[in-house]
Amino acid sequence: MTARIDGFSKLSKVDKIDWIVSNFTHDPEGFKKLLKQYWNDDSELQRIHDEFAENTISNFYLPLGIAPNFLINNEIYAIPMAVEESSVVAAASNAAKYWLDRGGFKAEVLRTEKVGQVHFTYSGDTSWLEEAFLALKPKLIQDLKPIMRNMEARGGGLLELELRNKTSLLENYFQLHATFETKDAMGANFINSCLEHLAATWEEEIAAREYPDGAHPNTEIVMSILSNYVPDCLVRAEVSCPVNELDEDAMDATLFARKMIQAVTIAQVEPFRAVTHNKGIMNGVDAVVLATGNDFRAIEAGVHAYAAREGSYKGLTEAWIEEGQFTLRMDLPLALGTVGGLTRLHPLVRFSMEVLGQPSARELMILVAVAGLAQNFAALRSLVTTGIQQGHMKMHLLNILNQLGASTSEKEKVVAHFKTATVSFSAAQEVLEQIRQS
Ligand code: MEV
Repeated sequence: MTARIDGFSKLSKVDKIDWIVSNFTHDPEGFKKLLKQYWNDDSELQRIHDEFAENTISNFYLPLGIAPNFLINNEIYAIPMAVEESSVVAAASNAAKYWLDRGGFKAEVLRTEKVGQVHFTYSGDTSWLEEAFLALKPKLIQDLKPIMRNMEARGGGLLELELRNKTSLLENYFQLHATFETKDAMGANFINSCLEHLAATWEEEIAAREYPDGAHPNTEIVMSILSNYVPDCLVRAEVSCPVNELDEDAMDATLFARKMIQAVTIAQVEPFRAVTHNKGIMNGVDAVVLATGNDFRAIEAGVHAYAAREGSYKGLTEAWIEEGQFTLRMDLPLALGTVGGLTRLHPLVRFSMEVLGQPSARELMILVAVAGLAQNFAALRSLVTTGIQQGHMKMHLLNILNQLGASTSEKEKVVAHFKTATVSFSAAQEVLEQIRQS
C-alpha cells in the first residue's frame, strides 16, 4: 500500500475503503466496519447517495429535526431542519411558539434577480468596444434563445445584458454582466450554460469585427460564471407586536425590548459581534437550506457578502420601536431552487418539500428567511435575559452523557438532576459518578 494513488476514482467502493483505512488510519478493520455500518441496507437507496458525488465511501448523517408551529403570513408550517448543533431546532421551535400568539412571522419576496458574468480583458479603445457591444447585443441575446427556450417557457430567462468597464480596478478588465430570472430553479447550471455560450459568441464576433487601424486589440475571455452574490434576490421577514406583549419571566417587557434593540444595534456597529449574530441567523438558514437540498455554501457566501455591502460587516437584522410596537426585521439575499439539483433526487429532501407543501422557490425563500429570523430572535432573547449557556448546555447534556458512555437509565437520572441545576461537562461527569457509585 502507498499513500499516493492514481485512478482512485476508478476503484470499487470496497477497494477505496480498503485503501483509505490501510493508508490513513491506525485501525483499518475497525474503521472499515464503521464505514460499512453507515451504508443503507437498501442497495438502490445507497446507490442514489453514492452517485451524488465522486469517491463516495459511506454516508455522513446529520439529524433531521422538525420545528413546528411556525405561523407565517397567516399559515402554519412545520419546518424541517438538518443540523447537528443541539440547541438549534429547540431555539427555532421556541421562537415559533412565542410568535404564534403574537401575530406570527410576516415575509415577502422583494426581488428575484440573479447575476452571471463573462470576465474578459481588452486592451484597445474603450469607445470602440462600447459601440461594438451595442451593435452586437441583439445577436448575443438572439444566440442564447435555444438555451433559454425551456426557461423562457416557464417565465424566466435573461433580463439584462451590460458591458461593464472595470479598468479602474484592474488593467484591461471588462465584463459582460448579465441578470437572469430563473423561476423555481436555483439556476446555476442554466446561468453558467448561458454565460459560456455568450462568451463564445462574444469572442467570435468581436474578433471578426473591423478595427480602425487594422491591428485588432487583444480580447481574451478569462472565465464565465454565475455570481453567488445576489443582492437583488431578496426576501424580507419580520416579527412585530406591541411592546407590552413581550412579557418575559426574567424581565420586564419594556426593558426586554430595549435590550433586544441594543443587542441588534451592537451587531450593526461591531463586526466581532456581527459575525456571531449572523452565525446565529445562519444556524436557521443553513438547516432549512440543507433539508431542502439547496447549496448552503452558495447561500453562506452570498449572505455574508450582503452583510458587508456597505463596506463594513454588519448584523443582518434591524430592530426598533415605533408607536409602542416592537419590530425585528431582516432582508436576506437567497438564491434557492425547488426544482433541479438534489431537490427531486434526495428522498429526505422530497420529504421536506412535501412537509412544506411543495413550495415554489419564492415560498422557500420566505420559509428559510423566517427560520433565520426565528433563530436570531431566540438567540438574542436568551442572550439578553438568562444568558445563552442555560438553554444551550441543557440541550448539549445528552452529547456530554454519550461522550461519557452513560446508559439510558443513567441519562434519565442525570437529565432529571439538571432540570434545576446548571449544566457543565464537569458537573455532568460528577453527577454521573455519584449515580454509578450509589
Ligand atoms: C450559536 O450557535 C449562535 C449564537 O452565538 C448566536 C448569537 O450569539 O446571536 C447563540
